[in-house]
Amino acid sequence: MSSQIGNRVARPESLQNKQGSIIHFTPHISDYSISPEGEEFPLPEPEEYNEEFNRIKILVDQAREEGKEIVVVMGVGFVGAVMAAIIADTKDENGNYSKFVIGCQRPSTRSYWKIPLLNRGQSPVKSEDKEVDEIIKRCVLETKTLVATYTNECLKLADVVVVDIQCDYVKCELGNVKTGEADMAALESSMKTIGEHISPECLVLIETTVAPGTTEFVALPLLKKAFYKRGIDSTPLLAHSYERVMPGKDYVASVRDFWRVCAGCNDEAKVKVEKFLREVINTKDYPLTVMDRPIESETAKIIENSYRATILAFLNEWSLFSERNGVDIIKVINAIKMRPTHSNMIFPGPGIGGYCLPKDGGLGYWAYKHILGFEDGDEVFKITPTSIDINDTRALHVAELTRDALRNMDRYIAGADVLICGASYRQDVGDTRYSGSEIVVRKLTEMGAEMRVHDPYVDHWYEMESQDTYPASGHSWKRFFRNQEDLSVLKMEAEFSTAIKGIEALIFAVPHNQYLTLEPETVVKMAGGPIAVIDCFGILSDEKIRRYFELGCEVKALGRGHIQRIKKEIQRSKFYKQNSKISTVSQIYNRGSFAR
Ligand SMILES: NC(=O)c1ccc[n+]([C@@H]2O[C@H](COP(=O)([O-])OP(=O)(O)OC[C@H]3O[C@@H](n4cnc5c(N)ncnc54)[C@H](O)[C@@H]3O)[C@@H](O)[C@H]2O)c1
Repeated sequence: MSSQIGNRVARPESLQNKQGSIIHFTPHISDYSISPEGEEFPLPEPEEYNEEFNRIKILVDQAREEGKEIVVVMGVGFVGAVMAAIIADTKDENGNYSKFVIGCQRPSTRSYWKIPLLNRGQSPVKSEDKEVDEIIKRCVLETKTLVATYTNECLKLADVVVVDIQCDYVKCELGNVKTGEADMAALESSMKTIGEHISPECLVLIETTVAPGTTEFVALPLLKKAFYKRGIDSTPLLAHSYERVMPGKDYVASVRDFWRVCAGCNDEAKVKVEKFLREVINTKDYPLTVMDRPIESETAKIIENSYRATILAFLNEWSLFSERNGVDIIKVINAIKMRPTHSNMIFPGPGIGGYCLPKDGGLGYWAYKHILGFEDGDEVFKITPTSIDINDTRALHVAELTRDALRNMDRYIAGADVLICGASYRQDVGDTRYSGSEIVVRKLTEMGAEMRVHDPYVDHWYEMESQDTYPASGHSWKRFFRNQEDLSVLKMEAEFSTAIKGIEALIFAVPHNQYLTLEPETVVKMAGGPIAVIDCFGILSDEKIRRYFELGCEVKALGRGHIQRIKKEIQRSKFYKQNSKISTVSQIYNRGSFAR
């Protein structure tokens, strides 16, 4: 799956006419939204909105006649697109489709393309899970229970609104999550819009990962205010239930066949959200946990991800310890994992990416002060922010290892051709959001390396290609490093065999399947000679490390101090071989001279 953003098309700010004079334009973004495959979709004109609403209204009237519940899913990104299809695929006890789903997406240049794509039955999210394409195609084209639109007016028709729009956490410094802040703008504006349109009986279910307190203390007041303005005096029915989606081969199952937690702002909302989730999610096999208040459900999500981020960060110090004291942390972890209580220990690799783990603890720290009003956040929160800071900066050490490995070969990082294998944040997926590889590439570029990138799952690395606008203007990690301009022309290498030609260093940053089977002899042959090899994930066996050394390469790895031992063994055996050759030669010589 590749990161799924569209491109902004900027009209040139000035052009030279045939007479040679310069015509200046007011810079503006054109009215197209471009899909990752490069297809252009013109943005809807204001006069098209009415017609679009009428189109949706006819479909909804028909669905109502068939007894279907109308569900609007706001935001059809990584989570919303799949969730919308899962809801649209719901059947009642008689085996009839029971929901009609409208995926609603704002018509921005970056995101509008998702709507026409969905309406053709194509998924806006690319995934290794075949079920993503299948379920979307089926619901749009066969069962006709899923449609997408850009008009917020559709909210008027909803029985249930599911909110799947993002709530980002913007970091202001690298390695200091505490100075960042939650970006609630999209969520707040969509809560306002929802309040302006929905019927009083409509259930609003926030699935977005939010700063704890958001549902009750930010979203509910916004809905109430909008209701008040419309003269509605009933309390909005608002609930929270977070997503645990895992991109990868079980994408759909990770939404549908997985345990859920939920809570409502009042009893009626609680009853409604429980009923809705029991209908659309497989709660028979994966029981639903119902909490008393949304802040508990919101906090569960934040703690769940902070716990994961913390146990991963904790291994960083032991990784350094191991590296410096002849210990192979990979063997240590495998030994510990034999104990059933510790079986979920995982090695952090070059950092912890993905959309959620780098930000969710920050949302909790931020909420404590800015939503819940406490001033002692720094005394209370020690472990969670430190863990995120460790995870965010761990990749810098990979750049040090690369530099050191090259230095041991009498080479310099400045000007060296370096290939990084893997741009995504975890193995066998194409999601590049906040991947450790991005920091490695940025740091090595700052140090003067000439970077190449290969990843079998990523066609476009938008964090690089669109670094001035993605994830948002001024939000790229680019701003924490110098000399980053050229990275916008960094293209993904399609063929590994081409990418590797002539390199001086190779970094195994992600343990994608393709890299696990590479043999040292093949790698060195393809590279054209001995290279520096940096293993970030413990993917090299001792046997392969040995062979790389024998081939004249230098090997370094995160947390694998035993490599020095292997290196010395090889050096010793080379020395003995040489010595024994010398002594054989001198023996022959001596024998000869003796004979003479
Ligand atoms: N991606 C994951 O792996 C994952 C896992 C668990 C939880 N989550 C949580 O789910 C939520 C959504 O994440 P995502 O990965 O789907 O994000 P995303 O950026 O892929 O999707 C969000 C979508 O909402 C749209 N949007 C923004 N403002 C809107 C508005 N006002 N009206 C309509 N649409 C609007 C955006 O254009 C985008 O398409 C986040 O809170 C995230 O933390 C994500």
